[in-house]
Amino acid sequence: MSINQSTKPVTTIRNGNLQIGGCNLVELAKQYGTPLYVMDEQTIRGICREYKQSFSNCKNIVMTYASKALCNMTIAKIIAQEGFGFDAVSAGELYVLNKAGVNMKKVTFNGNNKTEEEIDIALSYGIGLFSVDNFHEAELLNKLSASKGIVTDILIRITPGIECHTHDYIKTGQINSKFGFDLSQTEKIVELIVKEYKNLNLKGLHAHVGSQIFESECYKDEIDVLVRELANINSKFGLNMSILNIGGGLGVKYTEDDTPLSVEKFSNAIADGLSTAQIKYNIRDLTLFIEPGRSIVSTAGVTLYTIGSSKITSDGKKYIAVDGGMADNPRPSMYQAKYSAEIANDTAGRIEQTVTIAGRYCESGDILINDILLPEVFAGDILCVFNTGAYNRSMASNYNQTRKPAMVLVNNSQSDMIVNRESFEDLIALEKVPDRLSK
Ligand code: LLP
Repeated sequence: MSINQSTKPVTTIRNGNLQIGGCNLVELAKQYGTPLYVMDEQTIRGICREYKQSFSNCKNIVMTYASKALCNMTIAKIIAQEGFGFDAVSAGELYVLNKAGVNMKKVTFNGNNKTEEEIDIALSYGIGLFSVDNFHEAELLNKLSASKGIVTDILIRITPGIECHTHDYIKTGQINSKFGFDLSQTEKIVELIVKEYKNLNLKGLHAHVGSQIFESECYKDEIDVLVRELANINSKFGLNMSILNIGGGLGVKYTEDDTPLSVEKFSNAIADGLSTAQIKYNIRDLTLFIEPGRSIVSTAGVTLYTIGSSKITSDGKKYIAVDGGMADNPRPSMYQAKYSAEIANDTAGRIEQTVTIAGRYCESGDILINDILLPEVFAGDILCVFNTGAYNRSMASNYNQTRKPAMVLVNNSQSDMIVNRESFEDLIALEKVPDRLSK
């Protein structure tokens, strides 16, 4: 079974308490406080190795981690050590990757509205590839590259018109998406690049069909469209584009109802789709880029919360409140995302009951998990929510002026704080009260 097909990292039980990476979660909660993000290093390394193993039959493959899923220096170092490159979508992500010592030649810069400042920063880092999303960006990137006297390697991002079965907000490949060039615009942009934008070097095509995907068909469809377009453009414009970036999207198992593909099945479908399309469109020697984000870090992460208040409504619904919620994990309120959880401390002898886990934020929609079966829960218990490694910390906010939680890395019974908990001072660190109000 692939790591992304498990709802949680390898957990053991010691004296009734849950352990991850050999660390007792109840002890971690005590030592670092809650809410607490915990990342298991071996799970991250394990899935990176699964990707490498599963794609080892592909001759030319470049794995890039989509850092939007979780971006900090420690995680970047681990993933870079596993031989991955990176996909970044902002100057902030580029900054973190650079500070982590990532080889910036192995970074692709994506995004539908890169600003002039961001493009300038990316060029000064010497990043490997830009995925050019639209006409405005092409013109701007050409101008800035010319002013620096360089020729920038680019892909063009296309909207392949593929529908896949995932939440509407995280679909990106369908025809009316905000991302990329419509298929009817690709020749126009290529013509501009070839004839006018002399400081852009077109290396290939890029697309991304969506996220949290469980099926392989949409990848095959995507590859068919990309290879067809690439072959067409190459022959029409006498080009030799050879890079095919198919984006990310492999799903993970948040609850028992989720049925993600194994990394191996995913890679087989891609290899299959690629060889079929290469024969069909008579094109050889392509380099395949993939950009997994969620599947690399999600399963490795859990969030620990302390249980506080509880209530039973007049119609019998039981709420248990935790000391975090939508500011550290906005996914349930944004996408109706479902999670699984367990009590991390010893619950021997307690009877099971169905409860709803509420967050602590002033918003009725701040519910982390609806109707979950747990042993009877008491104030002071530690709740462990699984699969929070991706799109939790990276989407966290300070709503209600709460401090973003700390993140701890566990490995071989050792825990290291990799991101500090924000302090109250941090909450006002950027503020400035006008002098006239201080009088
Ligand atoms: N490449 C591109 C161009 C993308 O837009 C994305 C994700 C990825 C790669 C990585 O996809 P992944 O392997 O992580 O599925 N906040 C949402 C997910 C948004 C994904 C945006 N793009 C969530 O929490 O579900």
